[in-house]
Amino acid sequence: MRRDPLAYLTAELASLKAQGLYRQLRILEDEQKPRTTVDHRDVVNLSSNNYLGLTTHPRLRERALEATRRFGVGTGSVRTIAGTMAIHMELERRLAEFKQTEAVVVFQSGFAANAGTVSAILGKDAVVVSDELNHASIIDGCRLSRASIKVFPHKDVDAARKALQSLPAGQRALLITDGVFSMDGDLGPLPELCTLAEEHGCIMMVDDAHASGVFGRNGRGTIDHFGVHGRVDVQVGTLSKAIGVLGGYVAGSRDLIDFLYHRARPFLFSTSHPPAVAAACIAAIDVLLEEPQIIDRLWDNTKFFKAGLAGLGFDTGSSESPITPVIVGDGALAMKLSDQLFAAGVFAQGIAAPTVPPGKARVRTIVTATHTRDELQFALDAFARVGRALGIIS
Ligand SMILES: Cc1ncc(COP(=O)(O)O)c(C=O)c1O
Repeated sequence: MRRDPLAYLTAELASLKAQGLYRQLRILEDEQKPRTTVDHRDVVNLSSNNYLGLTTHPRLRERALEATRRFGVGTGSVRTIAGTMAIHMELERRLAEFKQTEAVVVFQSGFAANAGTVSAILGKDAVVVSDELNHASIIDGCRLSRASIKVFPHKDVDAARKALQSLPAGQRALLITDGVFSMDGDLGPLPELCTLAEEHGCIMMVDDAHASGVFGRNGRGTIDHFGVHGRVDVQVGTLSKAIGVLGGYVAGSRDLIDFLYHRARPFLFSTSHPPAVAAACIAAIDVLLEEPQIIDRLWDNTKFFKAGLAGLGFDTGSSESPITPVIVGDGALAMKLSDQLFAAGVFAQGIAAPTVPPGKARVRTIVTATHTRDELQFALDAFARVGRALGIIS
């Protein structure tokens, strides 16, 4: 009989099980909304990135259905061959207007936007200076580019400065940070990093995946929040989180976008979004512009929930956004907290290494604009009971 050449994967899985880190995928049996059904259980959902509740917003749903009726379900090609529909161009125009940049290119996902852009604009002669907690898609983009990578400690502007100062004059370099860090919910020090980039003549790039729709006027992101328009050369956003649909985009100069049209590999070699996706994203921009009170509700809920968790004595780290981690340290304990919360009717995922550094395991919570106060109070009561039972709080 043939020996299984993948047997080492089975051994890896056994090791995850032995450490209490093996996860079954949770199955959502209803819509992505604040109270839903997961694995046959009615739960308050604190696990999605659906910040504004747009996954089920009637305007987005209607526009997606209308686009499907008019244009079909798929595009049948990559953007550069026959897969660019008028609706894709309309979305890019609307996003560029919204982000106040010359142009925008839309990718299949935020992951593709980061990885495809960094690897397209840099080669092995370049250097990337990158925050240690930047998203995996940035790290993969850096690796694909074959540029040298200098990682600086989280948000440490002095360390980033030293890294840039050590480069030879005229060295092509990219300084890159997340706008909102996805596991801790804190903000990148954009004004200081922009100044550094200007002093050293390097490219400034921000991944604003968790800030689009959340920070800045009408959800324009951290560039707007910090007032650094015109100082960030490459802005990445996603359409998969607060926007409620799917996709990622890069906003910047006309030449940057034209270059990515020619060189970004996910754009060149992967089929474009179905028309329904583009249509729903356009409707989401309309909602951000016409119903900004949704963003106010998100922030009201965020303040209420954060105060509740901190009042119970949980370590919620340094979050400044609707992402609130409940840090417990040990990976197995984080999974236990998540499992017992689930049994109590609260869906909040446990996250351990390698997604977060070892010893920093946590349950990550995200409230949305559409949670009711009763739902959030129900979740806080469950956190109190389970946290005490596990000895995390007293
Ligand atoms: C900071 C950050 N950047 C990029 C992405 C990728 O976005 P998408 O889910 O659209 O691929 C994510 C999502 O996980 C993220 O958290």
